[in-house]
Amino acid sequence: DPTKKVDRFLYAMRLHDDQLKDISARFQAEMKKGLSSESNAAAAVKMLPTHVRSTPDGTEKGQFLALDLGGSKFKVLQVKVREGMGIKRGGVEMEERTYPIPKELLIGKGTELFGHVSESLKDFLHQRNISLEKKHPLAFTFSFPCEQTALDQGFLLDWGKNYRPRGLQGKDVVQTLREAIDRTGGLDVEVLAMVNDTVATMMTCGFDDEYCEVGLIIGTGTNACYMEELRHIDLVEGDEGRMCVNTEWGGFGDDDSLNDYITEFDRDVDAASNNPGKQIFEKMISGMYLGELVRLVVLKMAKLGLLFDGRVSDALRTKGKITTAHVAAMEEYKNGLKNTKDILTELDLNPTSDDCIAVQHVSTIVSFRSSNLAAAGLAAILSRIKQNRNLRSLRITVGVDGTVYKTHPQYPKRLHKVVRRLLPECHVRFVLSDSGSSKGAALVSAVAQRLASQRR
Ligand code: BG6
Ligand code: GLC
Repeated sequence: DPTKKVDRFLYAMRLHDDQLKDISARFQAEMKKGLSSESNAAAAVKMLPTHVRSTPDGTEKGQFLALDLGGSKFKVLQVKVREGMGIKRGGVEMEERTYPIPKELLIGKGTELFGHVSESLKDFLHQRNISLEKKHPLAFTFSFPCEQTALDQGFLLDWGKNYRPRGLQGKDVVQTLREAIDRTGGLDVEVLAMVNDTVATMMTCGFDDEYCEVGLIIGTGTNACYMEELRHIDLVEGDEGRMCVNTEWGGFGDDDSLNDYITEFDRDVDAASNNPGKQIFEKMISGMYLGELVRLVVLKMAKLGLLFDGRVSDALRTKGKITTAHVAAMEEYKNGLKNTKDILTELDLNPTSDDCIAVQHVSTIVSFRSSNLAAAGLAAILSRIKQNRNLRSLRITVGVDGTVYKTHPQYPKRLHKVVRRLLPECHVRFVLSDSGSSKGAALVSAVAQRLASQRR
């Protein structure tokens, strides 16, 4: 049985429940650290206040433009939230367009990237014949860590994933966007709110499910947010009510707290990344790295003579040649083995059927570890919410988005199962955000707009 040697070889990646509980407990400790003003500055898990104080209540309304930057696609959208439709009747209409981002902008000057963003916005208005006369409120989904002092202000802590433009770290991203829009000219737009994609996803799903108080992304990157009691958030004044906290859980482990779970393959992925030493948890989970982990394992096994009769190809030695889409294809229910054979052949390898079975098993172990780790993080968040509210059992919904969750055939099922096993006393529902995160960003903006008009 060719899976046996893989099991032995990847022993350190097969996490059992005691280990997952241990990881979950460590993550709980990190959350506490990030929330407290004494330890926050040095915390690996940043626990950023978002200034979103409630999930949707169905009274939101209005027409918004939206920008969605930082996932696998950059999009411009128009979102109409219809009056009086309320929760559960889904009165939201959206039109969207994806704009490719030229590669050089990802590593060029930050202001040029934002120039492209505002030019795309202008193009969208033209294409849709949207009047430039009146003022358009705009919602901004920005999927990077920001220190927010208000809904419409956020200082960029760091880029990540495949983004590393220069000159914006520490700057207010909303201000940067406003300046870019001014430079483009001819646009009457008011940026009302900037939200992380996790927050926007929670809000999107919260429009149809009042129990949705957690947002989860398993995509290019990974992260989660949830509704925390304000009295526990040292960085924000006030003790009444709740606020959504963007955990930025991808940074879990950046202070070496996961070292005993990290394998040589994780170290290699990290060393070859854009941001060595950072986003350690993310690099074990998210779509940007899963394919690469599989490639490194397969390469090492081949070199040791455990696969392909010890033969290695140049393609297999090349970074990026196995993608997360390949991993998903290898684990397809019916065609998985055939896909594996095609993928390996494409890499100039000559696999036997045992090789295919073994490589498919490598994929399974790597992607299973990913869902296990995400489940451990989520279990920590859910049990924190339960403790916060002093409940014996908790009924809650998690809104989820991201290409890994949406396209890997087994991922959702595995994640759900492990979360429920780790937390038998919680009734957890998982809802896929089928319309992306911009609907949620628009809902946040609707509330911001209402509050602003009340102040006037
Ligand atoms: C999308 C959101 O639906 O999900 C993005 O609108 C987000 O903002 C994304 O970043 C996460 O998935 P991925 O796989 O595109 O990174
Ligand atoms: C990265 C970003 C985070 C985002 C996540 C998912 O981890 O730091 O802000 O939510 O990717 O897109």
